[in-house]
Amino acid sequence: MSNVEIPAGLKELLQGYTVEVLRRRPHNLVEFAVQHFTQILENHRNEERAKKCSSKSAKKGVTFETNKSTKYDEEEEEDTVESTTSKCNRRVSVCAEAYNPDDDEDDDAEPRVVHPKTDEQRHRLQDACRDILLFKTLEQEQFSEVLDAMFEVLVKPQEHIIDQGDDGDNFYVIEKGVYEIFVLKDDVNVCVGKYDNKGSFGELALMYNTPRAATIVATEEGALWGLDRATFHRLIVRNNAKKRRMYEAFIECVPLLKSLELSERMKIVDVLGARAYKDGERIITQGEKADCFYIVESGEVKIMIRSKTKVGQQNNAEVEVARCSRGQYFGELALVTNKPRAASVYAVGETKCLVIDIRAFERLLGPCMDIMKRNISQYEDQLVALFGSSVDLKH
Ligand code: CMP
Ligand code: CMP
Repeated sequence: MSNVEIPAGLKELLQGYTVEVLRRRPHNLVEFAVQHFTQILENHRNEERAKKCSSKSAKKGVTFETNKSTKYDEEEEEDTVESTTSKCNRRVSVCAEAYNPDDDEDDDAEPRVVHPKTDEQRHRLQDACRDILLFKTLEQEQFSEVLDAMFEVLVKPQEHIIDQGDDGDNFYVIEKGVYEIFVLKDDVNVCVGKYDNKGSFGELALMYNTPRAATIVATEEGALWGLDRATFHRLIVRNNAKKRRMYEAFIECVPLLKSLELSERMKIVDVLGARAYKDGERIITQGEKADCFYIVESGEVKIMIRSKTKVGQQNNAEVEVARCSRGQYFGELALVTNKPRAASVYAVGETKCLVIDIRAFERLLGPCMDIMKRNISQYEDQLVALFGSSVDLKH
């Protein structure tokens, strides 16, 4: 064996694979090897394309940088290619052209990231992504591209998925596990909430080119699906520009949001999802745990309450207490009071709602809290009028 020549790069390739195996602990080593080496091949191709892109940009007089580690503002965003699947990987800048979401001229030249998946993995991924609001306004084709680009990340208890202050690399969708959210307040890490086996995080640093705004720690073994920064930009950020155009005028007219700055309203648009309901479809169920807030975009909803039954009695019938139409909101009460849903809500005719998840609600709707709290007192008055006895919805 001593005179057998070892091909250049073999050692590094095998070492890289071994490190990824130890880091990610895949169930199936062979399948993982296929994914890992396919990704390396894909990255080589992307780098080739990047070189072509570089000479093209140079011709256009555009700055080209590699290994850029500084931050840039929204006018000077970059398109990047992840060098491998890990969250810690170095990012390779491709073109530091001014980012124009509508400029689809080079769309086909942009690298497509594909992480091959088994049917079983794809099913699990589709399940995890079903309710992710950021994906709700994507066209089917864009959504498929997102799914293609996502990669599985297995996590250990106490593992830091994201550290506040770091650069953003990936966006994460939760398949399973509980993840605590810590935010630094006066130099102390305060737990401000947790994700319990569903949801997503890590979008803010990628959307706004800001440092990570929170630390996310796994409390138990879990599984996540990551989406690299470059693909997030190409598909989600570009789609956000479309969303802003679609919803800007409507959001301006929502009375609740009038007290917000325009930039704050646009941040709401960036994270909202849209959902359509058929006539009679239940949107919220009284007594359930809450994770979303709703604004009616078109159609109408009716709010129905079932009053408490005494032991041994049959369930009381639901009574209609209110209706909400275009521009009005519902589903805030449980988020504000941290209690189960106080009423059920049904679509009346074909109805469309804009949906905001609890984390974004807490982060972005703080300035509207006074208005919402005032309305809760009105609900209490309504309930007294309907059911006779006094009701305390806040405590
Ligand atoms: P990002 O800043 O990219 O990384 C940390 C993530 O934590 C952030 O995106 C959000 O997705 C998520 N997060 C959840 N709650 C908060 C919060 N209160 N403040 C900031 N980020 C939060
Ligand atoms: P939430 O409790 O989260 O879910 C049901 C929603 O119905 C509630 O928030 C309010 O937004 C809305 N609602 C409207 N009128 C009433 C009412 N009188 N009592 C309780 N909820 C009401």
